[in-house]
Amino acid sequence: MKKGKFIAFEGGEGSGKSTILEMIYNYFIENNVECIKTREPGGIKISEDIRKIILDKNNTQMDAKTEALLYAAARRQHLVEKVIKELEQGKIVLCDRFVYSSLVYQGYARGLGIEEIYNINKFAIDEYMPDLNIFFDVSPEVGLARINKNKDREVNRLDLEKMDFHYKVREGYIKLCEANKETFIKIDAEKSIDEVFESVKSKIIKFIK
Ligand code: TMP
Repeated sequence: MKKGKFIAFEGGEGSGKSTILEMIYNYFIENNVECIKTREPGGIKISEDIRKIILDKNNTQMDAKTEALLYAAARRQHLVEKVIKELEQGKIVLCDRFVYSSLVYQGYARGLGIEEIYNINKFAIDEYMPDLNIFFDVSPEVGLARINKNKDREVNRLDLEKMDFHYKVREGYIKLCEANKETFIKIDAEKSIDEVFESVKSKIIKFIK
């Protein structure tokens, strides 16, 4: 039986969601809140191995449906091997991306269809959805400029997409966020790190109370 809270951090490239996730995680640990942090695609060995294949800059020939299936496969293994177990122990699971990333990137931006991508993901996740999705909204110009400034972050295959793809990603998130207001919170991620952190922290605390 699921007891914890499953919170997904969503957004386009350079939205700052991973930085804020780390800050929220540290805040919870300092305040003795039982919590783990993890990411998609990845979080466990098999899914991290799949991540390497998906994001390899040399895999330019990868078919869009192959990509979608690999994300779903990585998601399945991560969910059953880690996320569900932690939730069953009553923990808060902070997950860097989950199923909405696939709906937006593969379904909407790549044009495979949100419905179609949801269907293959239903098979992968048994309709296991996050209790809360936090969408870090940033314009592609600001997001990509942040990535280019951050020399430690390796540029991956999806960063190299044309600008139009990144506009579609943002548009897709805005649409899905609007359509699923009961489980989505939108954050203005162009604000300073401290402002974004305070805003996300107060919203999560309100949600888990
Ligand atoms: P990250 O940079 O946030 O770690 O995510 C890796 C890339 O994978 C990012 O460009 C978004 C992309 N992605 C998808 O296209 N579909 C998915 O389902 C997931 C989880 C990530």
